[in-house]
Amino acid sequence: MSQPALLHSRSALLPSTSRASPPSPPHLSRTRRRRRCGVVMASSTTAPAPAPAGLKEGIAGLYDESSGVWESIWGDHMHHGFYDSGEAASMADHRRAQIRMIEEALAFAAVSDDPAKKPKTIVDVGCGIGGSSRYLAKKYGAQSRGITLSPVQAERGNALAAAEGLSDKVAANAHVSLQVADALEQPFPDGQFDLVWSMESGEHMPDKRKFVSELARVAAPGGTIIIVTWCHRNLEESETSLKPDELNLLKRICDAYYLPDWCSPSDYVKIAKSLSLEDIKTADWSENVAPFWPAVIKSALTWKGLTSLLKAGWKTIRGAMVMPLMIEGYKKGLIKFTIITCRKPGAA
Ligand SMILES: C[S@@+](CC[C@H](N)C(=O)[O-])C[C@H]1O[C@@H](n2cnc3c(N)ncnc32)[C@H](O)[C@@H]1O
Repeated sequence: MSQPALLHSRSALLPSTSRASPPSPPHLSRTRRRRRCGVVMASSTTAPAPAPAGLKEGIAGLYDESSGVWESIWGDHMHHGFYDSGEAASMADHRRAQIRMIEEALAFAAVSDDPAKKPKTIVDVGCGIGGSSRYLAKKYGAQSRGITLSPVQAERGNALAAAEGLSDKVAANAHVSLQVADALEQPFPDGQFDLVWSMESGEHMPDKRKFVSELARVAAPGGTIIIVTWCHRNLEESETSLKPDELNLLKRICDAYYLPDWCSPSDYVKIAKSLSLEDIKTADWSENVAPFWPAVIKSALTWKGLTSLLKAGWKTIRGAMVMPLMIEGYKKGLIKFTIITCRKPGAA
């Protein structure tokens, strides 16, 4: 799972002020000591804490264990669906809503369908079993590379790609290949990909700045970066942290889903700006995903859902048990389902 050290320079992406690390002022050190799971404190986008021990192994284990259950009930897309506000949806609509999420994200980022401008190389960062990788490769006739921490997901996703004739390098324009690798140390050279795609993996990243800077590093000049992720609400001017009950709610979600510190949409914007990324846009889609968790809970409470959960194991059961907390987080305005898109400077 671990990758060899990257040989290429990432510092070219950073503004000169970010290249050297000056000693932390005392107030920042205090802020670092106050960090806890569930929130990134106001100034911590520039000062990430070390990743919690065992985080990567926990994430890999969770998805190794649960991906088969998810696929058998929900199919190959392991992300929220996008619904019209207030829409009541049947099970068949949910799969459509997951595809719509992909299309809405592409439209929001203004990814072109024009044969001369459409993406030809794509990386799917935190690819699950490659639902997005295959969809995007087929849509654009592109070469898609996917990375995940879960060996089970990589193997299953490659099998699905092979079954769809997407792993034959010679025959196909569209090609998909998934591998086990860490998003924070991607096994790709600089400037490779026209489209850098992260659908609901950012929330697992212990260092959001490193995460975004890796996305930017592997993007081709002019390439589009799309991050769709769970955030906590923006802090008010007067706040330095979320409220204790909000922190407590996020902590319970973090423990079950192997999530490190969360950050806010404006933290992502700050990071993207500090990396000199262009055309930075963000939107809150929390209302558009509202039917999703109630539907997942309903499917877990069927005979098939319950028996699959029991067979899968404790991590999966624990994940299912905190699903109502996601609904609570959205209802309280604490959890924000967020899209952030931007472009790497340079010729498209
Ligand atoms: C909720 S799933 C989303 C999967 C996929 N994007 C989709 O929409 O179907 C989260 C994914 O992020 C991956 N992930 C989490 N942390 C990662 C990391 N540090 N490096 C690579 N992948 C990671 C997990 O292995 C998993 O595949």
